Amino acid sequence: MMRLSHLRFAIWASCLSHVTASSCKAPIPSIEVDVAIIGGGSSGIHAAIQLKDAGASVLVIEKKSQIGGHAETYTNPDTGIPANVGVVVFEDTKIVQTYFDRLGVATTKINPSASATQSKSYDFSLGFPIPAQSAAEAGAAQQAIANAIGAYSQNVLSKYSWIDQGYLIPEPIPEELTLPFAQFAQKYNFSALLPVMSQFNWYPGNISTIPAIYGIKNFGPGLLSSFTGEFIIPASGDTRSLYRAAATELGDSVLLNSTILHVDRQHKSYVSLIVQQPNQPPKHIKARKLIVAAPQTLKNIGSFDLSTQEHKLFSKFFSIGYVAGVANIPGLNGSLLNVGALTPYNTPVIPGSNGYQSSGSPNQFLLGVAFDNSDYTQADAEAVIRRELQTLAAVGAVPADSSQKVTFPYISDHAPFNLRVSSNEIGAGFYNELLSLEGSRNTYWTGAAFAGHNSGLIWNWNEGTVLPALKKDLGL
Ligand SMILES: Cc1cc2nc3c(=O)[nH]c(=O)nc-3n(C[C@H](O)[C@H](O)[C@H](O)COP(=O)(O)OP(=O)(O)OC[C@H]3O[C@@H](n4cnc5c(N)ncnc54)[C@H](O)[C@@H]3O)c2cc1C
Ligand SMILES: *[C@@H]1O[C@H](CO)[C@@H](O)[C@H](O)[C@H]1NC(C)=O
Ligand SMILES: *[C@@H]1O[C@H](CO)[C@@H](O)[C@H](O)[C@H]1NC(C)=O
Ligand SMILES: *[C@@H]1O[C@H](CO)[C@@H](O)[C@H](O)[C@H]1NC(C)=O
Ligand SMILES: *[C@@H]1O[C@H](CO)[C@@H](O)[C@H](O)[C@H]1NC(C)=O
Repeated sequence: MMRLSHLRFAIWASCLSHVTASSCKAPIPSIEVDVAIIGGGSSGIHAAIQLKDAGASVLVIEKKSQIGGHAETYTNPDTGIPANVGVVVFEDTKIVQTYFDRLGVATTKINPSASATQSKSYDFSLGFPIPAQSAAEAGAAQQAIANAIGAYSQNVLSKYSWIDQGYLIPEPIPEELTLPFAQFAQKYNFSALLPVMSQFNWYPGNISTIPAIYGIKNFGPGLLSSFTGEFIIPASGDTRSLYRAAATELGDSVLLNSTILHVDRQHKSYVSLIVQQPNQPPKHIKARKLIVAAPQTLKNIGSFDLSTQEHKLFSKFFSIGYVAGVANIPGLNGSLLNVGALTPYNTPVIPGSNGYQSSGSPNQFLLGVAFDNSDYTQADAEAVIRRELQTLAAVGAVPADSSQKVTFPYISDHAPFNLRVSSNEIGAGFYNELLSLEGSRNTYWTGAAFAGHNSGLIWNWNEGTVLPALKKDLGL
């Protein structure tokens, strides 16, 4: 269904060379599709596959040189062992399993706590060793967590079962969803679960202060049942096998290394885009519908033809930061867990990492450095690790020269992470207004800002809300 015309390319390219893209009128389309999708990450690729299966022609426009977004793999050249630097596990839900099956990617199931290797605990900011609990203490702690899971599931998740489906918040907005999460946890007797919630689905923000809705979103019914049961992972152990299969399936319906020069959604029945790839003439794309599946920050989409309302809503998002990578720490060969000795709920001091988890290759560790804002660089994240290593070396937890000897064979910034708004905005109906954007100006919106930072939730959101509306709109 995709129509490429080199002649039309040539006409359009000459048009571009004379005037700026935005003032060049009536361009002749070089590609016509039913749906153009901006962003080839978790949400955009899933939407593309579902729409293709529904008979629509699709085109994914991705900024980077690979699809898959936060799913990044580092393969150690010596051992050949893949380490999932970003996305690691998927909730065990029907939607997740069906998607893997659709792409022909073999899966297996794991219980992360059962398969977790023993790690030693330290406060990485103070250098305190956290002593292993006695059997009695460990038993009591396990019991407290089990009770908290029961209370959380009975008192909270039963009340907010929609939390795994976007932000379909009922009206009037339950006021307690804007409470600081620790206060909400006290109200519902699940405080003992807060350290687990903070560490397991890292990094949710300050677990004490984030609005309750984000705390619940971070640990909804799907995640809780996988946490106490099993998660789905690709049988290969490499998360990117999902995206390799998707890339094969989508073929030249994906434009990599793309820069969006122009978005025009003023027309009644289509949107028009101009996309630049390196060393190629700009492509003019005419699509009946547009899906924006890139994080909706003004930095990413501020140059689009945003309406006053779109601009107002997207400018309210702020984000926290997350740098993930692999550290090579010579002489260290066991996993370390970062536990805050003096912080509420023993969450690690921020900026800081949640621990150094063995990657499967000697001396190599997965790390995730969290920040409470997006005002940092990758070098800042490396400096955080070196500082932690220096502190840990002083108590003999890592070799003395670790902070000098550490290298980062792979490290990448996952900002903007967790696009959020203030509790005042939540209470004032931000999300209902945000959702009212769906479908207007031939545009649909998806991704973590709309569904939560979890692939299972994103695919729920696509299949439960966005795609049914879009397909209806297209007459599919
Ligand atoms: C380190 C880390 C670990 C995680 N682990 C897990 C996990 O184990 N399990 C899980 O379910 N979830 C995990 N998540 C959450 C996961 O990231 C999200 O579920 C998901 O990737 C978000 O999907 P998305 O489509 O919103 O964004 P992304 O997957 O980030 O995709 C957005 C895409 O849009 C592209 N883009 C951005 N701007 C533009 C533009 N202007 N033009 C074109 N393209 C653009 C980006 O390059 C990117 O490819 C993890 C997240 C991080 C950061
Ligand atoms: C994308 O860019 C990378 C370099 O950044 C290059 O290696 C790759 O071949 C490019 N791919 C396409 C499809 O342009
Ligand atoms: C929480 O626990 C207290 C004390 O055990 C009890 O009185 C209260 O009813 C519980 N609250 C809920 C919501 O279960
Ligand atoms: C790793 O640790 C184990 C157990 O402490 C030890 O037996 C082994 O020698 C160590 N290996 C290396 C390469 O340091
Ligand atoms: C989280 O916020 C609370 C309240 O402001 C603060 O006391 C606590 O130290 C913060 N936690 C961390 C890990 O910084």
